[in-house]
Amino acid sequence: LAGKRRLAHTIRDLPAVGPGLVALRDAYRRARFPGSANHWESTYQSGGNSGPGSYGVLAQFKAGFLNDFVAREGVSTVLEFGCGDGNQLSLVEYPRYVGLDISPTAVNLCRAKFAEDDSKKFDVYRPNMGMRADLTLSLDVLFHLVEDAVFDSYLDDVFSSADRFVILFTSDSDRFRAPRQTPEVKHRPVPRIVRERFPDWQLVEERANPRPYDGDAMSSSFANFYVYARPVTG
Ligand SMILES: C[S@@+](CC[C@H](N)C(=O)[O-])C[C@H]1O[C@@H](n2cnc3c(N)ncnc32)[C@H](O)[C@@H]1O
Repeated sequence: LAGKRRLAHTIRDLPAVGPGLVALRDAYRRARFPGSANHWESTYQSGGNSGPGSYGVLAQFKAGFLNDFVAREGVSTVLEFGCGDGNQLSLVEYPRYVGLDISPTAVNLCRAKFAEDDSKKFDVYRPNMGMRADLTLSLDVLFHLVEDAVFDSYLDDVFSSADRFVILFTSDSDRFRAPRQTPEVKHRPVPRIVRERFPDWQLVEERANPRPYDGDAMSSSFANFYVYARPVTG
């Protein structure tokens, strides 16, 4: 993989032809992109995993933040939209947890990995499932929802399913400019979108990740934590 990346960088840096070849390759990839749901299902079917944000130092950072938050706020039920292969989940302690994912293969991986753990359940995600929890999570998912209709209905579900808190770990295109969009990634101004679409929800905490994006998506990330609280009514 490192060799492949070195070769890609060498081609990109070739004077005159490099940028043209990269643009051509990107156009080819976009034309062949099968849609976000199919992309993830085929990634898992072919033995791939949830990606660099779910392993190593970034996964440790996400787990530390989530473990502290759940303990501090006395969260008892958690619903995650896009649970992935379960590696990130294996680092976190939740009293009761339901993980949903668009990929049936990922759901089966999680069911097998946590078969002995009664506190965790998994299901294939469909819009409007009507589930609820104290805290809903969307970790490293929103910028993979490249289709606007998919993004909109997913975000509706994340917010309408939460009784107390929503935690997003995602990018903000108002602050971060991606050097190049790949077909499986679309950055949006998520905090601004949340402010406009869910004005009652308050952004109560932001936490920057310790490895801000430096051009290498394998070891750094454009995502940060955004914590929203439902206003207390009555
Ligand atoms: C980068 S992985 C992140 C997994 C996990 N949240 C983590 O932090 O380790 C993104 C996950 O989102 C899932 N996903 C993509 N589109 C989705 C959708 N519309 N609804 C639910 N999950 C989706 C993918 O199948 C994949 O497992």
